[in-house]
Amino acid sequence: MQKSQTTSQPPFVTILGIESSCDETALAIIRQSGSSKPEIPEIIGEVLYSQIEAHSPYGGVVPEIAARAHAERIPLLLSEIMTQANINFSDIDAIATTSEPGLIGGILVGLMVAKGIAVAHQKPLICINHLEGHALSPRLTDDVPFPYLLLLASGGHCQILIVYDIDHYELLGSTIDDAAGEAFDKVAKILELGMPGGPAVEKLALEGNPQTYPLPRPLKGTDTPNFSFSGLKTAVMRILETHNTINQADLCASFQNAVSDCFIDRMQIAMQLFTQKTGIQSGICVVAGGVAANQYIRGKLDQLCQKKGFTFHAPPMKYCTDNGAMIAYAGLERYKRGIFSPLDYAAKARSPLGTRGSPLALAQAHAVRDQLIKAIPNLSEDNFA
Ligand code: KG4
Ligand code: ZN
Repeated sequence: MQKSQTTSQPPFVTILGIESSCDETALAIIRQSGSSKPEIPEIIGEVLYSQIEAHSPYGGVVPEIAARAHAERIPLLLSEIMTQANINFSDIDAIATTSEPGLIGGILVGLMVAKGIAVAHQKPLICINHLEGHALSPRLTDDVPFPYLLLLASGGHCQILIVYDIDHYELLGSTIDDAAGEAFDKVAKILELGMPGGPAVEKLALEGNPQTYPLPRPLKGTDTPNFSFSGLKTAVMRILETHNTINQADLCASFQNAVSDCFIDRMQIAMQLFTQKTGIQSGICVVAGGVAANQYIRGKLDQLCQKKGFTFHAPPMKYCTDNGAMIAYAGLERYKRGIFSPLDYAAKARSPLGTRGSPLALAQAHAVRDQLIKAIPNLSEDNFA
């Protein structure tokens, strides 16, 4: 059934999101009522296939295996999610997919599926920067207004940004070597805790004493909010080499506490910068990305926010790690602003957040919108808020 596209505010916007940039094959369908306030969408379908078992024997994500697994799973998951949401393709307003950054093979699989659906069903394509998916994830389930300070800590990235709006990010600092999640994964590998490393380290740390092993706090006290985690991982290795016996739980707790201390120290600097740049004294501070699922780190950041007069926010655990709903949500935000992607949009392995906010990028996206309006019957500029 084709729904009417003639009113200035469509009754519902329905977006399919596809995530395939690493080792989770994830799809979601979200729906937002044009009049709902606050604008929290309903997640009407959600499926996720974790490839962890396929990668575990290799001790890390193998790009070739990941790409093949995405290619095998996406069609099955797509069929499953359409049944779950009880809709057909004509009910979907746009297809959002991760186009960057990440493992290129997997991204290409998701992007090609999205392009195929867009062409076959004459729907707009919306390419999403995976980091933007994480950056906007708190708004998927809660009313978190712009601007906010964001600690984005995942397996591939560790950055502090000010999120001013969709497509408007200011990078305050980032890691100069390993990402925080990567450090968790490497420590888990050294201790042979299996994959995924972060949850395994956190679980063991629950039984340990964080004060047992002295570990460095790289870059602590410096005046720009950057991170460095590779020295921390090396320090963990050195403890193993220099001690006859170690208590794994104590080592995990000490490591987790060191990462947390680095976050706290760097976020204090970032909060000052946030206030200077926005003029907001008591801002909102968000942690997102896989590492944000860590309860100890969430607790410590919450304490810091209380001390500094900031409001702390973290997405529900399942939306910290990679998921389809955050991609669908980023797609929804772009859809409402009429920001679309051309069908020849190229996947990218690297793509820092913030570069697409240029006036040129926005003008190109609006040019695509105008082409779509010409090509798709009943679609007009009124359909985009
Ligand atoms: O955001 P994400 O799912 O994928 C990327 O975009 O990278 O993050 C995955 C990373 C992995 O490094 C994983 O070990 C880490 O997040 N992670 C955690 C926890 N859960 C996942 N790190 C610490 N504690 C956790 N509970
Ligand atoms: Zn991610």
